[in-house]
This record gives sequence, structure tokens and C-alpha cells, in this order.
Amino acid sequence: METQQESCNMLPRNGRRVILFPLPFQGHINPMLQLANILYSKGFSITIVHTEFNSPNSRKYPHFDFHSFSNGVSEIEAPTEDLPAFLAALNAKCIVPFRDCLAKLLMSNTQEDDSFACLITDSIWHFARAVANDLKLRTLVLQSTSVSAHLAFSAYPIVREKGYLPIQDSQLEAPVIELPPLRVKDIPRFKSKDPENLHKLLSAIDSQLQASSGMIWNSFQDLEKVQLTTTHEQYYNSISEFPVGPFHKYFPASSSSLWSQDQSSISWLEKQAPKSVIYVSFGSVADISETEFLEIAWGLANSMVPFLWVIRPGLVRGAEWLEPLPKGFLKKVDRRGYIVKWAPQQEVLAHPAVGGFWTHSGWNSTLESICEGVPMICQPFLSDQMVNARYVSHVWRIGLHLEGKLQRKEIERAIRRVMVEATEGHEMRERILQLKEKVDVCLKKGGSSYQSLQRLVDHILSFT
Ligand code: UDX
Repeated sequence: METQQESCNMLPRNGRRVILFPLPFQGHINPMLQLANILYSKGFSITIVHTEFNSPNSRKYPHFDFHSFSNGVSEIEAPTEDLPAFLAALNAKCIVPFRDCLAKLLMSNTQEDDSFACLITDSIWHFARAVANDLKLRTLVLQSTSVSAHLAFSAYPIVREKGYLPIQDSQLEAPVIELPPLRVKDIPRFKSKDPENLHKLLSAIDSQLQASSGMIWNSFQDLEKVQLTTTHEQYYNSISEFPVGPFHKYFPASSSSLWSQDQSSISWLEKQAPKSVIYVSFGSVADISETEFLEIAWGLANSMVPFLWVIRPGLVRGAEWLEPLPKGFLKKVDRRGYIVKWAPQQEVLAHPAVGGFWTHSGWNSTLESICEGVPMICQPFLSDQMVNARYVSHVWRIGLHLEGKLQRKEIERAIRRVMVEATEGHEMRERILQLKEKVDVCLKKGGSSYQSLQRLVDHILSFT
């Protein structure tokens, strides 16, 4: 069978090269490399510039050029305690090595080589446009959150001015009038020693976006039409926007995983009845306490629903992996439960045995679930996840929002509502299947994402 790379190699090349610069986290690497594949299929040559920290696997992409730089960041400085401060430090540490790397690349280009068309940077690398600009290279920004979540970030100065911040426990249920349908508890949140860290970071990201040559969204018109219009009218009316998503649907399952994906998940799913399994994964960043872990474990066990559970090493604070599980737990759920460190998530969600997804509501996970028509239980932990969970449960109505303290009874109840109880689960499934159909339409010739991609290609080709 012809591979994706072989079929891409047969496509005409256009003599232009695009440099892409992913943020070194799984939820950001995936969409950036998917976008790289999409642009490659449109004739562009691809260079990936990346940090040595969390570097993507270049062997999986022999058709791309990879250039890495060292920035002194190591796994030890894991970001969970103060993500805004970590991201600020990461930006600061990368300016000089990124500039050196980019300058070297541009200098080494000869007349026989493809000419550099532009840089596409993750929006969180807020210094990248200025560096590229100094080197006379245009910059487009990839926004890897939903448009809805980005709107909430853009509104931070207003939200702050109107007194919603710092968030008060007594106000959690109050609506944010300026950002319907969000409540105070849905405002993106981070653990941080100093709230100023977040404000400074958001302001730097916004300045870069305002000065960029365009914004690329991993979303699609039929899902976020109103939010796309609002973001354009309120914030970026002089910038070209390209909602090209969902990126991962352009090609078969992605190969940009930082960890090895346990394929035994699929063989286990093969033995399960259609739509019987709840898939549980909280993405690559979120972490939980041992108490929460035990509540999840017993909630899953007591629900009596078969489950495939991703327990990433590091998910439970202070534990290596499964040690906090109570004695007898694995025996109790034997055959009905399967635990892996990391799964081939896109394949799992596409498997006929999967009937629900208990997710942290990261944007990639949310999109992947929509694309396979799998209703969700939303368990947001931080950042954009709060907003995605609210939209899934209250706007698109394709999932439940599990709120408050994690408790086994509530968990059991939520799983049964989505997986077992006829009416509610059925209605969510119907709605998400309608969205899945819209995904198929938007990617087809003439569809909204198809057209946005064509505009994006023309836009890049217009850079001289
Ligand atoms: C982070 C943020 O948490 C998220 O909110 C933001 O939108 C992007 O950056 P992450 O927490 O990793 O990302 O979540 P998500 O966006 O869902 O991305 C996770 C990716 O890892 C998905 O593409 C998913 O398919 C993949 N994955 C997850 C696996 O391949 N295997 C797994 O077992 C779990």
C-alpha cells in the first residue's frame, strides 16, 4: 500500500519552504506537525525548528528537515507548579538560540534551494515574530486552542477590570456577563505564584498576534462560526485568519507522539462489545492527587462499565505509576478494565468499541472526540480546558461536565449517564454525530476548511 509520504512525494513541489516552530508539549507538537504535513501535501518543503527538550521524532518524518537548539530546559523543570512562569522563562531562554538557529538556516540557503516563504510559530512563542522580522521573514501564528478559549484569553484585561479576578469561591457560579456562556469558574485558570505572570504572558502573545501576517486555527467554521466572527471583529480585524481544522483528519493517525503508544489498547478493544467502553485520558500535562486518583479508580470500578484508562507516569503527584492503587483493585476490574501508560488515542477513539471519552478537555482531545462522534465527560484541570468543557456541555451539548470535587459516586453516576442511560447518552450521541458529519463536509472540496486551506496556501505563496 502506498504510504502518506510516498503519495505526497508524487505531488508537484512549489519551490517554497516553510519553517515551523512547535512549542515543546504534546498538545502543541501534534497540531504543528499535522499542519506541516498538510502544507507538505500542498507542495511546500518543510523545516521544523525545535528545542532539544521534548524534541519530536524526526525519523517519523523523513520528508522534513529538522533543526534543534539547546536552551538549557530539562524535564526536571516540569511546568505544572507555575505554568505562566515556566512559559515566560522558556521564551526568555529560547530567544538567542532560536535567533542563531534561524539566521544560520537563512544564511546557508543557496540559489538552488527552495526559497524560505515564512515562519509558522506556535502563538505561545511570543518572541518569534520579532526575531523573524529582523531576519526579513514573514510570520504566521498557529493558535492551538479553540477559538472560544482564545476569546476568553483575549478578554482577560476586561475580565480583570470588571472584578472577576482573582476568582472568589463565593462567585464561582456567577455568569461572566462579557463572555457568555462562561461562569466565573470557567475562566481559564493556572496555578501561579504571581497573577502578573499570566497577564504579562497573555499581553506578549497578543502583541505578537497583532503584528503577525495571519492566524491559523485548528478549528472549523461550523463548530465555531460565531466565535470566529467575534474574534475577528473585536480583536484581529486587520489580520487574515485561516480556520483549516481539524488538522488530524487530513491524514491517517498522527505519528508525533512523544511517548510510545501502547498498541495492546487496540487488541483489548477488539474483544469488547460495540460502544461499551469508556476511554479515560487526561492528556499530557494535567496531574492529580492520590486521593483524586483513588476516587477515579473506584468510580470506574463501581460503574460496572468496561474502561480503557491511560495512566501517564507522572499523572499522580508523588507516584511513579500504579503504586497508589488499592490492593485487590486490579483483580476486581480484571477483564473489565485495561490500563496503559499512553494510548494511540486517535485510533482508540475511532474504534467501534468506544462509546464515551472521559477527558480533561484539551483542545486536541476534544476535536478528536468530535471527529469520531464519541460523547464526552469533561474533567477540565487548567487553562483552556475550562472553556472547552463549558462549550462541550452547554453549547454543543455533546458531553457532561463533571464539576466540583472528584467523588466516586458522582463519577459512577456520570459514566452511567453517558454510557448506559438511554435518553441522555443517546441525545448527546445524536448531536455529536451531526457534528462529525459537518467535519466531513468542511474538509471536502468546496467545504469551509478546504477553502481556508486554499486561501492559506495562496497567502503564503504571495510572500516574496
Ligand atoms: C495541552 C493543554 O493541556 C490543552 O488544554 C491545550 O489545548 C493543548 O496543550 P494536552 O493536555 O496534552 O495539551 O491535551 P490535548 O490538547 O488533548 O492533546 C493531547 C494529545 O495527545 C492528543 O492529540 C492525543 O491524541 C494525544 N494522546 C493523548 C495520545 O496520543 N495518547 C494518549 O494516551 C493521550
